Amino acid sequence: MTALEKINSAPSRLGGTALYDWDYLVQEDRAHRLIYTDPAIFEAEMTQIFGGTWTYLAHESEIPNENDFITRRMGLRPLIIVRDGEGKIRALYNRCTHRGTTLCRWEKGNTKSFQCPYHGWNFLNTGKLRGVPWPDGYAEDMRDPKYNLAQVPRVESYRGFIFGTLNIDALTLAGHLGPIAKVIDEWLDRNPGGKVVVCEANRFRFKGNWKLAYDNSCDGYHVAYSHRSLLETENRFAGENAKGMAYYRNSPDTQPMYMRYTGHGNHFKDKRPNLEKRPGGLWALESAHPGMEHYEAEFLRRYGDRAFSLLDLAGSEPVNINVFPNFSLLGNHIQVFEPLGVGETNAIWYGTMLVNDGSLPADAVTDINALRMRTQEGFPNFGEVDDIANFEQIQRGLMAVEDEWVYMHRGFGIPGRVKQQPDGTITAPATDEAFMREHFKEWKRLMKGPPNLAIAREP
Ligand code: FES
Ligand SMILES: [Fe+2]
Repeated sequence: MTALEKINSAPSRLGGTALYDWDYLVQEDRAHRLIYTDPAIFEAEMTQIFGGTWTYLAHESEIPNENDFITRRMGLRPLIIVRDGEGKIRALYNRCTHRGTTLCRWEKGNTKSFQCPYHGWNFLNTGKLRGVPWPDGYAEDMRDPKYNLAQVPRVESYRGFIFGTLNIDALTLAGHLGPIAKVIDEWLDRNPGGKVVVCEANRFRFKGNWKLAYDNSCDGYHVAYSHRSLLETENRFAGENAKGMAYYRNSPDTQPMYMRYTGHGNHFKDKRPNLEKRPGGLWALESAHPGMEHYEAEFLRRYGDRAFSLLDLAGSEPVNINVFPNFSLLGNHIQVFEPLGVGETNAIWYGTMLVNDGSLPADAVTDINALRMRTQEGFPNFGEVDDIANFEQIQRGLMAVEDEWVYMHRGFGIPGRVKQQPDGTITAPATDEAFMREHFKEWKRLMKGPPNLAIAREP
């Protein structure tokens, strides 16, 4: 029996011991500190969750041409995401089949083959072993498929977003996304041609568990306190006109925004109802960024009545769309959480640009993208640092062994507050922790496992 078969056949790798009673560790309204601090639980997550369900890997615009590649990870597995010579997107294990070193040390590039830096084994970008130095030193046939690179057996895209899973019994990606796909559609469809292109990333690393970031991804309770300096900065010159996330300042639950849980750990916070529905309604919320007044005046001069709907394309879309376990769309960013260890995580914000589908004046697209870079500097730079400070301080706080529980019961037990909708989704006011209670049900389901994991290799 291989190690992979053992993982698949065990009821749960950690199941037998009292310490890892998942129903005890995650209850309806509270979670045990161990799920954030225990290295063995983290190790199990890297198989049961990052492997057992769909993990976001990359965006198709990062590998637009044949033979383009980027290096990424799925949990702790290093991967090469490649578009091979026939245009097929693959997620190859970045792990030489000879002695296990990472094969590709570059972040991105274009190549038909990868040569291992250690002993020179050479692999096609389909994962097939192409040749080894001095093959007469091997008694066996080196064309045995076991020497071809391992790869993620299921890689699927949803409108440019590439996900992978090792779980051969998992739903299709579309099935996994379920109702959240419609919100992703709306996020995309406000852009010309329903498309965005990923540009560069804003990279953060924090000393805390990855779930702290996902637990915060739909949290409307912290904004007025954790981001107070950001709200004040955004509104310093605003006069009567509230800017940025000012709708959080006073009694956010009386605002029309809300959270919705859509299943499989996925949820979103919809702040769009807070906006005035008119061309320029989104632009009006943008706080001061260098060059804004100049662009606005120039757009009005060039495009007249159309100026404000064009400027809206530079504004940050007021939604947080979260796909469990590692993907968020917020504002105009794609945010990805990459676990590095039980107490260390990357939080990476990929900026996005528009592409002209012919429906916009060419010079407008260039200027909107320039302006979009400015507006995209606002939230990650001034907001994420607040959040990361919280994540690191939670990780410190959870080192207090005897104080065991983390509470997530805001909105729980108040009749009529959290609503089960006819379509099966769950809605609640913006500050409720219902999203967290729900995504932990999915976490627990996956941790109880076992997932039916597999890897693929070229024949
Ligand atoms: S480890 Fe890759 S060729 Fe030896
Ligand atoms: Fe935040």
